[in-house]
Amino acid sequence: MAIALPALRLGSLDLDFPVVLAALAGYSDLPYRLVCRSCGAPFATSEVMLDRFLLSEGRRRRRLGRLDPADHPVGGQIMGDDPAVMAEAAVVLKEMGFDAVDLNFACPVRKVLSRRRGGFLMSMPERAVEIVRAVRRAVPDRPLMIKLRRSFSAGDSGREGFWAIARGAFEAGADAICVHARSVEQKYSGPADWTFLAEVKRAFPGRTVIGSGDVVDAPAALRMMAETGVDGAAAARGAVGNPWIFRQARDLAAGRPPFRPSLGDQRELLFRHFEMAREFYGPRRAVGVMRHFGIGYAKLHAHPKRVRMAFVEVKSAEDWRGVLDAHYIT
Ligand SMILES: Cc1cc2nc3c(=O)[nH]c(=O)nc-3n(C[C@H](O)[C@H](O)[C@H](O)COP(=O)(O)O)c2cc1C
Repeated sequence: MAIALPALRLGSLDLDFPVVLAALAGYSDLPYRLVCRSCGAPFATSEVMLDRFLLSEGRRRRRLGRLDPADHPVGGQIMGDDPAVMAEAAVVLKEMGFDAVDLNFACPVRKVLSRRRGGFLMSMPERAVEIVRAVRRAVPDRPLMIKLRRSFSAGDSGREGFWAIARGAFEAGADAICVHARSVEQKYSGPADWTFLAEVKRAFPGRTVIGSGDVVDAPAALRMMAETGVDGAAAARGAVGNPWIFRQARDLAAGRPPFRPSLGDQRELLFRHFEMAREFYGPRRAVGVMRHFGIGYAKLHAHPKRVRMAFVEVKSAEDWRGVLDAHYIT
């Protein structure tokens, strides 16, 4: 049975489908965003970028800022601790051509927390809201999204921080929040708390709330929206190795059986992804980057362990093609 899903509104942007590609360091680079677009993703967010990296000229900035006409609308995600620097970085994102600005208050990496960035801001609501205000002022004409965690600490304490930031962010003019329903301390383990997502949506009925956490496959994306009432679902680990998750979610929503990529479909996409990565990163770096994508892709294969081991051994473009010839021939 078809399900009527309203467009996902991100400020001035109306997305035709509410399952989007989450920000994923190490994965949501330009080549993989293009792969996901080709499988139906209506929106994607870049890997998190340190605000300072965007302010200094150089090869890294050129790579971070490389966009493609087929990769729109696209969000650029930034992380930092100083409102003024974050605001400057947001202006750079806009100039680069990103369609939306996303602020990361969620990253749980120890080094990030020790520098009072990312998820650390969940424990500093005033500073977090100050950042939102500064960015909103600097970039009034782009959708502004905030990535949050349920709280900083694993227990129930510290939840006030979430509410203060969410409320303050909307008051400051944020267009959407994306809530990862785990605490910062929890990192990526344990189940995501979908009852919390329902609570958030009840608290902000007229605002755009995107849920994140345990969107393991297309049915889970639709289930999250149905059970919690959130306006959209962000596919993260569920999209790693399965970019078809977007097409599958569209199929399910339309009442069709979800698309199942044949071995031939997988081969074609894996080949295309490698070629795009080679062009983007250069031949040497592409091999390392693609090795971990290969490990993800192996999950869909009938012999995941064998194929995973084959991808782990890849040291060149020829090796990559060798894995495709050995394991992806029908
Ligand atoms: C490898 C990896 C990298 C991630 N990088 C980012 C990032 O750069 N920015 C961000 O906001 N979230 C990042 N996340 C968090 C995801 O966007 C998402 O919120 C989280 O994985 C929960 O969803 P899941 O349980 O469906 O994977 C990352 C997660 C993983 C596993």
